[in-house]
Amino acid sequence: MKIISIITEKGGVGKTTTSIHLGAAFSERGKKVLLIDFDEQRNLSKGYKIEKTFPYNIKNFMDKTGDFRLTQRGENLYILSGSREISAEDYQRTDLRERLNYLNSKFPFDLVIIDCPPSPLNGKMKLGEIALCSSDLVISPIEPEEYSVDGINELLPQIVRIKKDFNPGLNLLGFFFNRVNVRNRRFKTFSPLAQQEGKGYFFSSMVRIDESVETAKTAGKTVFQIAPKSRASEDYKNLANEIIEKIF
Ligand SMILES: Nc1ncnc2c1ncn2[C@@H]1O[C@H](COP(=O)(O)OP(=O)(O)OP(=O)(O)O)[C@@H](O)[C@H]1O
Ligand SMILES: [Mg+2]
Repeated sequence: MKIISIITEKGGVGKTTTSIHLGAAFSERGKKVLLIDFDEQRNLSKGYKIEKTFPYNIKNFMDKTGDFRLTQRGENLYILSGSREISAEDYQRTDLRERLNYLNSKFPFDLVIIDCPPSPLNGKMKLGEIALCSSDLVISPIEPEEYSVDGINELLPQIVRIKKDFNPGLNLLGFFFNRVNVRNRRFKTFSPLAQQEGKGYFFSSMVRIDESVETAKTAGKTVFQIAPKSRASEDYKNLANEIIEKIF
């Protein structure tokens, strides 16, 4: 079992979209995948049309209260739905890891993907802190804007801190640009700078801006299902292949 956090401090960069599409792509490749909605906004659960009244969620799982149940969406794809009531202060940093180790001993997974909420990582007890303290790997979507360099500069020291203080097994797998407009001339100027800041941790794949992402979201489907020949479908497949090559 490899546990991967999809995280950025900034909101709206594509964490949830990436979690959903990587989960689908990995499961298509025969990996048994668990997607965890670790965000009180529950966007990943909404993406799978799981109602907020659905009683089996990450909070029950973390609290060990009663039963918990995974939602299966495909042969190899399982979702642990989100809770609006989950609060990081109720847990220790590695509680999620312990729960996942227990789950994995009963029902093994190849890959666990944690869709993290947007929040500053500063050592305080936040869901993102728990996710990173409980993960093996980190993937971070980067907005293709001039200030994207800031996102990189903020995340790198946090990974170093958590690795040193709490989770020696944590490693950065990589950054990638999401929602890229390849015709934007400014992108050609600043993307090499961002890649330099990223210290060689950039995937060569990037995900272009594509309307079919929104269409898929509204339909509760993936771009692979509704627009298999779209740019986003091609890009997410390439990114997933690149990740699989790095991990396995
Ligand atoms: N490649 C893309 N092309 C077009 N739209 C995209 C793309 N990636 C993401 N989006 C859209 O951008 C919005 C934000 O994406 P998403 O919800 O995945 O971000 P997030 O980082 O999870 O946000 P939050 O920080 O609030 O959790 C969504 O409406 C999503 O459909
Ligand atoms: Mg999200």
